Amino acid sequence: MSGKMQNMFFFFILLGRIAGGSTLSLENLPATGNITENSPANALVYVFSVKLSPSCAEVAEGYPIIINSNPLTDAFQIVPESKLVYRVVTTENPILDYETMPHLFDLQIYVMDTAEATDLQTLTVKIEDVNEPPMIQGNMATQPIMIYILEGSGAGNIYQIEAIDPERKELKYSLTPASDLFIVSNSGTISTTRQSDYEKDQHSYFLNITATDNLGLKTTGTVIVNIININDEAPYFTMKQISYTIPEEQRPGTIVVHITAKDPDDEGFISRLTYSISPPNEYFSINPLTGVIQVAKRIDREASTFQLHPRISLIIHVEDSPRGGQMNETEITIIIEDINDNPPECKQYTFSSKIPETATPGTLLFALRDYCYDNDVEPPNNKFNFTGLSGLGSNIFTLDPVGSGIVVSARDLNFENPANQAMKDEYSLTVVVQDIAWPNYASKNYSRYTTSKIGKVSATDKDLPFAGITYSIVGGGGTFGYTNIFWIDPEKGDMKIIATLDYETTQRYILTVQASDSEKTATVSVTVNVLEVNDEKPVCTPNSYSLAVPVDLAVGTNIEGFSILCHDPDSSPRSFRYFISSGNINNHFTFSPSAGSNSSRLILASRFDYENGLDTTWAYSLRIYITDDNLLSGSDRATVHVETGTVTLSIKVIPNPTTLLPTTEMTKLNTVFDGEARDPVTGKMYEFNSKSGARRWKDTKVLTETKITDPVVHVISSATAKGREEKDGTGTPSKKEAGVDEKAPEMENMAAKPTEG
Ligand SMILES: *[C@@H]1O[C@H](CO)[C@@H](O)[C@H](O)[C@H]1NC(C)=O
Ligand SMILES: *[C@@H]1O[C@H](CO)[C@@H](O)[C@H](O)[C@H]1NC(C)=O
Ligand SMILES: *[C@@H]1O[C@H](CO)[C@@H](O)[C@H](O)[C@H]1NC(C)=O
Ligand SMILES: *[C@@H]1O[C@H](CO)[C@@H](O)[C@H](O)[C@H]1NC(C)=O
Ligand SMILES: *[C@@H]1O[C@H](CO)[C@@H](O)[C@H](O)[C@H]1NC(C)=O
Ligand SMILES: *[C@@H]1O[C@H](CO)[C@@H](O)[C@H](O)[C@H]1NC(C)=O
Repeated sequence: MSGKMQNMFFFFILLGRIAGGSTLSLENLPATGNITENSPANALVYVFSVKLSPSCAEVAEGYPIIINSNPLTDAFQIVPESKLVYRVVTTENPILDYETMPHLFDLQIYVMDTAEATDLQTLTVKIEDVNEPPMIQGNMATQPIMIYILEGSGAGNIYQIEAIDPERKELKYSLTPASDLFIVSNSGTISTTRQSDYEKDQHSYFLNITATDNLGLKTTGTVIVNIININDEAPYFTMKQISYTIPEEQRPGTIVVHITAKDPDDEGFISRLTYSISPPNEYFSINPLTGVIQVAKRIDREASTFQLHPRISLIIHVEDSPRGGQMNETEITIIIEDINDNPPECKQYTFSSKIPETATPGTLLFALRDYCYDNDVEPPNNKFNFTGLSGLGSNIFTLDPVGSGIVVSARDLNFENPANQAMKDEYSLTVVVQDIAWPNYASKNYSRYTTSKIGKVSATDKDLPFAGITYSIVGGGGTFGYTNIFWIDPEKGDMKIIATLDYETTQRYILTVQASDSEKTATVSVTVNVLEVNDEKPVCTPNSYSLAVPVDLAVGTNIEGFSILCHDPDSSPRSFRYFISSGNINNHFTFSPSAGSNSSRLILASRFDYENGLDTTWAYSLRIYITDDNLLSGSDRATVHVETGTVTLSIKVIPNPTTLLPTTEMTKLNTVFDGEARDPVTGKMYEFNSKSGARRWKDTKVLTETKITDPVVHVISSATAKGREEKDGTGTPSKKEAGVDEKAPEMENMAAKPTEG
């Protein structure tokens, strides 16, 4: 078909031929054809036909054509419909915009037949207006608009929509989804209605803003509003208990309680909280990074400060970062529990008394209780009784009532009584003052053990008839003030031990025993070898085990709930102590409690740090020794020989999927920063390592307003936020922020148990 440009070329040439006159005519023309604005290609404008002269049968090839248009346009063309019937239609890319273009076009349609007769008629095309949807202008027309607002910013305008109606009608604006935080005005201004709150509100909003014209046609643009978190919330404590009980005399380093807190602002960040005890307390310290409270100094429940008030109150502060940020505090109470760590003692250990032989049975000799006391504070730890009356005369005197310390005569003492022939006029008795509570300390001057027979010395007297031989120990058998370790039955020569023998102190005693009848005396040397007691080993279950611990496990967590349970037939359940003797590289693990229970839990004591190269091993093999020592810390207590049980643990550290790296790369990584980003809280730029996540601040400038150009960003800052930034305008990254986490100091054992109520 004919090109439109071509039509115009021939305009003047063809005009000349019309003058010749003919009978060829264009039917139904001139006329007016209508088309709506912005019609697609090939839309029908008008139909006309050609009437040939009788002498001529054909329309010349290439006709009819539009030879001219006014105003000039290439939006229309003629296509045949059937023989001699033609349609005026729109071309491939008609641009027919009512608002920006003429509304009327005159098309001159020219036809010629094979006999060169011609006709020319005008088709007026009228462009009809149709209502079109509003048009959003500017960046929003092509992409969502990104807006950042600082949390806490007051109500205010955040964005002005630019939109027009092609028909120049007034537009209305609406916003979906409905939000109580945002509104859009009649003029297309989006504003916040109130302060935003990062912790309570959504962190980002996807808002559709719809412009609607007078006839209800709509166009929608999108605004994405991101709320930037600022440090505006105080941290709060998350541990439930406020009262904890620990036994006195815990080793410094023993873990008492793990203080935990959360910062509502912290979402999406590693904890940036710092803990302190304020005012400081001499008995406890807190790890500022982990919140683990440990014993810092020996606590003796018997010390005068704790006798009446065995409670220590600690005010725990927690502060978020940056420093000078928000803080909170709570009070916890640590109750010091008395343990039985003191033997009963007496103001006087040697007593003498004279009673007449005429005294009746039951006559009081000594009331020992008045001389004795026990420094432990609480019953039954401070209760004691008197037992084990022994020595020469123990059949003549007795404790009445039993255990009381009241020594009375037990029978008739009259020398004239024939039954009392063998009676002496002086007796030496030993009484044991003994704790009632486990482990039943006895005062050191005395034995808490019942006498046990160790041997017999016998002598024969050649003088007949047999005259009674009396045995006595005249030398040896004493050490360090233990004057009466052995006792010999004066009549039979049986020797007994009446005090505790301690292998560690003395392995051998050499005694001189004397046998005498009424006239002569003989002595003999007796050697007593003290043997080492070989008591039973603690047996613990499980005695070997494999565990896995996630690399980011919180300090203080009982790893996989693992605990060991120990049993020792000849020891109390409270006598066990747990030591990790090898494999505890960087002291990441501890057992809690470390002593005083037959079961102990495996605790993560400090956090792993592979990023900074502090930790390099991912597999630990721990060897745990369990002894059946006792709980006590008194310095002058004789060492008790202990037997050891062992437990072996294999622990694997499970890396985070994102930080899984070959160990050889670990140490280098902290210096390689391959990315950078902006901290949404401070607005500062930092560099980070995309594998390890390690960060450091990039520069020291504090930015309160920022424009990010991709895609389109508007930042609305508030006075509140600026003020806060300036307060921390040091530009020095805190250790946490920079990803250089300090390693927690070595920890001992969680000894506290929550107190009821
Ligand atoms: C075009 O519209 C006008 C009125 O606007 C009308 O008079 C005329 O008949 C219409 N023409 C056609 C071909 O529909
Ligand atoms: C917002 O617009 C997008 C795309 O135009 C649509 O998918 C989404 O459902 C809309 N949301 C609302 C709440 O209108
Ligand atoms: C302090 O923490 C407690 C809970 O530990 C919380 O109830 C309180 O609201 C916090 N104080 C502030 C100011 O947030
Ligand atoms: C003294 O106390 C111990 C330990 O509780 C007890 O075994 C013993 O029976 C008591 N002795 C007397 C005489 O009460
Ligand atoms: C018993 O021990 C105390 C100290 O514990 C000491 O003062 C006293 O002399 C001792 N008495 C005897 C008889 O050994
Ligand atoms: C552990 O000690 C408790 C009392 O403290 C006792 O009831 C339990 O039987 C003991 N378990 C073992 C295995 O000895």
